[in-house]
Amino acid sequence: MPKKTKYLVTGGAGFIGSNFVHYLYRHHRNIQVCVLDKLGYSASLENLKQYAGRSDFEFIKGNICDAKVVAKAMAGAHVVVNFAAEVAVDRSIDDPQSFLKTDIFGVYTLLEEARKQKNLKKFIQISTDEVYGQILKGSFRENSETLPRNPYAASKLGGERIAYSFFKTYDLPVVITRAANNYGPSAYPEKVIPLFITNLVDSLPVPVYGQGRQMRDWLYVDDHCSAIDLLVSKGENGEVYNVGAGEECTNIDLTKRILKLMGKDQSFINFVADRPGHDFRYSLSCAKLKKLGWQPQYNLTDGLKATVLWYQDNEAWWRPLKKNLDQRFVKGFWGGRK
Ligand code: TYD
Repeated sequence: MPKKTKYLVTGGAGFIGSNFVHYLYRHHRNIQVCVLDKLGYSASLENLKQYAGRSDFEFIKGNICDAKVVAKAMAGAHVVVNFAAEVAVDRSIDDPQSFLKTDIFGVYTLLEEARKQKNLKKFIQISTDEVYGQILKGSFRENSETLPRNPYAASKLGGERIAYSFFKTYDLPVVITRAANNYGPSAYPEKVIPLFITNLVDSLPVPVYGQGRQMRDWLYVDDHCSAIDLLVSKGENGEVYNVGAGEECTNIDLTKRILKLMGKDQSFINFVADRPGHDFRYSLSCAKLKKLGWQPQYNLTDGLKATVLWYQDNEAWWRPLKKNLDQRFVKGFWGGRK
């Protein structure tokens, strides 16, 4: 790496992106960070306010589909990490088009600009375990079949495959991560964990889809950030890496754990209409990443504790965002009590 490394972090005002910016400043010296973010509904400049006015930080408001603003933001970058995406599965089922635009065309726009960069050492495309589809037994490996089952997952697969094609065709130094469900500080409260915590702060019921039997593999956001950081230096170009902590949990167990941490009883559970085509289970084998020396630092117990505390301490952060949240989420996106 050069003496002063320039990172372009797209989507850096969102949940995982802003946590990655914090991670970079905590772990590196001599870096320049540029965040490009369109400040969509789930992003917040509050997430980056501590960097305002610093000479080693720049914020550019813009869309990754806009080639002009992308060219400005990427100029001279050594590392590009693309977090910018439409991410809510429920919204993608309701209205797929914006997902195709951002998660496919937006990635293409970034890649086209990346081809022109003389200093570029790494382009990390953040993808998701959802590109595999669901798995009832065992765990996905990086060479498992990809059978995405909702428009969000299909768009993310489209984006990462275009990135791969730019590696094969133009020798672009692309590395792809497929992460499990992330949770932790500053996640927008449309995602199940922050939605449930913030509902419970207000003593509102929590809408569990179906019977809550679906399983997710939970990854604390800092552990995702450390994996990305490692892959910037050690990831092999053209390769995909799964990132998961192996902390599997059914939605109903997760709900009960959150209730307990917040001192609420099970009368707050509201079983509601299920998501159409709801993936039953995700599970990742992360042997490939662990071979590079990565280990998650948080189990679900510690991660959930830290997350609940963060939301309890940061009402001023989430209240304005929750006000603008599509109110269907609060009661159950696909309908109220069954
Ligand atoms: P979510 O946080 O939307 O992430 P993803 O769909 O990417 O896995 O949902 C996590 C799990 O929680 C998923 O199985 C759906 C379920 N869920 C609920 O039961 N109730 C809710 O209100 C939401 C938003 C999700």
